[in-house]
Amino acid sequence: MQKGLFLTVEGVDGAGKSSHIAWLQEAIQQLGYEVVVTREPGGTVLGEKLRELLLHEPMHLKTEALLMFAARNEHLQQVILPALSAGKWVLCDRFSDASYAYQGGGRQLGGVAIEQLEQWVHPSMQPDRTWLFDLPLEVARERLERTRDLDRFEKEQSDFFERTRAAYLHRAANDSQRFCVIDSSQSIEQIRLELEADLQHLHQASRK
Ligand code: TYD
Repeated sequence: MQKGLFLTVEGVDGAGKSSHIAWLQEAIQQLGYEVVVTREPGGTVLGEKLRELLLHEPMHLKTEALLMFAARNEHLQQVILPALSAGKWVLCDRFSDASYAYQGGGRQLGGVAIEQLEQWVHPSMQPDRTWLFDLPLEVARERLERTRDLDRFEKEQSDFFERTRAAYLHRAANDSQRFCVIDSSQSIEQIRLELEADLQHLHQASRK
C-alpha cells in the first residue's frame, strides 16, 4: 500500500491556523483520502497530559524541549507512523518546526540542541508539506488578545514573538520544497484559494 502524506501546519500564536485546519481536513477528504487530524504537543493520552504541563507549568527550558520531544515520540509511535503506513494522510497542528521556532528561536535554546533531539526521535523523517501561516506581530497580538485566556507561550513579550517568527521564516527559506508560506493577513477566501491550489498539486504528485 502507498504511504500517506504527512502534512503539518505551523505559525506564531494568533496566526489563525485552527480555522484553516478544519477546512483542510474537509478538502482532503473531498479528494478521496482518509485523514487523521491531530496536534502537538498532544495527540495521545500521555501527550495531552504533557501538553497541560507544558502550557501552564513553569519549567526549565531544557525540560520544556525534552517534554515536547517526549510527547512527539509517543505521538509518532502511536498515531502518526501507523496512520501513514496504513495509507492515511496525517494533518498535524504543529510538529518539530515549532520546537525550532519556539524553544530554539523564541526561548533562544538555539537550533543545535533541537537538531540533536530531532535526530534521536525522528531521524530521516520530515513532513511532506508544511503550511506556515505568517503574519506581523501587531496583527497576531491583536487577534490573540481578542480571543481568549493566554497560555505560557502566548503571554510572552513581543521580542519572543519576533524571534519565533524569524526562526520559522528561516527554516522555510532553507527548505522551500517542503514549506508553503501563507500570508495570514490576507482574507480567508484568498488563503483558501492558495491552500486549494497547493492541495491539488499534492494530490496530483501523490498519484504519480
Ligand atoms: P497551539 O498549537 O497554539 O494551540 P492553541 O491554538 O490551542 O493555543 O498551542 C501550543 C503551544 O505550544 C504554542 O504556543 C506553541 C507551543 N509549542 C512549542 O513551544 N514547541 C513545540 O514543539 C510545539 C509543538 C508547540
